Amino acid sequence: MPSTRPRVLSGIQPTAGSFHLGNYLGAVRQWVALQESHDAFYMVVDLHAITVPQDPAELRANTRLAAAQLLAAGLDPERCTLFVQSHVPEHAQLAWIMNCLAGFGEASRMTQFKDKSAKQGAGNATVGLFTYPILQVADILLYQANEVPVGEDQRQHIELTRDLADRFNGRFGETFTVPAPYILKETAKIYDLQDPSIKMSKSASTPKGLINLLDDPKTTAKKVKSAVTDTDTVIKYDTENKPGVSNLLSIYSTLTGKTIADLEAEYEGKMYGALKTDLAEVMVEFVTPFRTRTQQYLDDPETLDSLLAKGAEKARAVAAETLAAAYDRVGLLPAKH
Ligand code: TYM
Repeated sequence: MPSTRPRVLSGIQPTAGSFHLGNYLGAVRQWVALQESHDAFYMVVDLHAITVPQDPAELRANTRLAAAQLLAAGLDPERCTLFVQSHVPEHAQLAWIMNCLAGFGEASRMTQFKDKSAKQGAGNATVGLFTYPILQVADILLYQANEVPVGEDQRQHIELTRDLADRFNGRFGETFTVPAPYILKETAKIYDLQDPSIKMSKSASTPKGLINLLDDPKTTAKKVKSAVTDTDTVIKYDTENKPGVSNLLSIYSTLTGKTIADLEAEYEGKMYGALKTDLAEVMVEFVTPFRTRTQQYLDDPETLDSLLAKGAEKARAVAAETLAAAYDRVGLLPAKH
């Protein structure tokens, strides 16, 4: 029976191996919660991962690793549809349609492309990296998603998705649901522990500022304890003047469910060291079972692969229907069967 719940869709790249704390708090944690209330589709976006140079064996291993981490984080294949993007060929097919609808100037304004292509060195970026956001548009529209749970850095891509959905609907008739971003204020942007002016990310962060969920818990504890704060001693949430402390409070609050106000009260008159020691403990308690569960899924690749195959089958049923409608609307002649 078709679900009457609103639909969510989101994706994560398998590029980095271990997820980092920003991925978890900014996105994956919400995915887990939303599978209870929404018709949820989540995927490992391996086609996006090849927009930058990749090692084939590593990509294959990291795709399984990403799926294992999503399961370890709490995604339940009985409650959501979990799949690998390249297992559903409709993504690349709808992306082509969207490529033909998106403006060159519009795509040129995507800030993630500008950042990433700058890193590749002038002239070295691929056309795939340029059209990366358009593939993301196709990902979302294929499932007629109402909401897209992501971190703040993805907002511009969701805006592009809305624009292209509106454009397609206006030109060819109502076809796509126009999705809204689902971005939680407190965890929209988790910052680097060493440089709280930049977001935590595999590519930009220093190793000491990046919390990888699969790191040895001792390393994680050490990184939390050496997080940069400020020369003041007051534990207060103030993103402007105390970005480091505020970042730690956001992380602490989300992982424990305590409010920021409660934490401020609890640590009144205490030193930064106390906050960091306690947060380090909270982090260790979180990552230790996460690592064990991830390993358990990896130890049984057959079950993992068949679970992903089932997910792809479910996803394809939805994606194929949307793609057929889009092909028809733009005037592609149906193949005779
Ligand atoms: P990716 O793989 O870079 O990141 C996965 C999710 O993690 C969030 N995130 C953060 N949130 C808070 N603070 C941070 N420091 C932080 N770093 C990362 C990201 O916002 C993201 O939600 N383009 C997407 C993948 C994608 C996708 C999609 C997402 C492909 N198709 C369709 C939604 C819908 C990306 O690169 O995510």
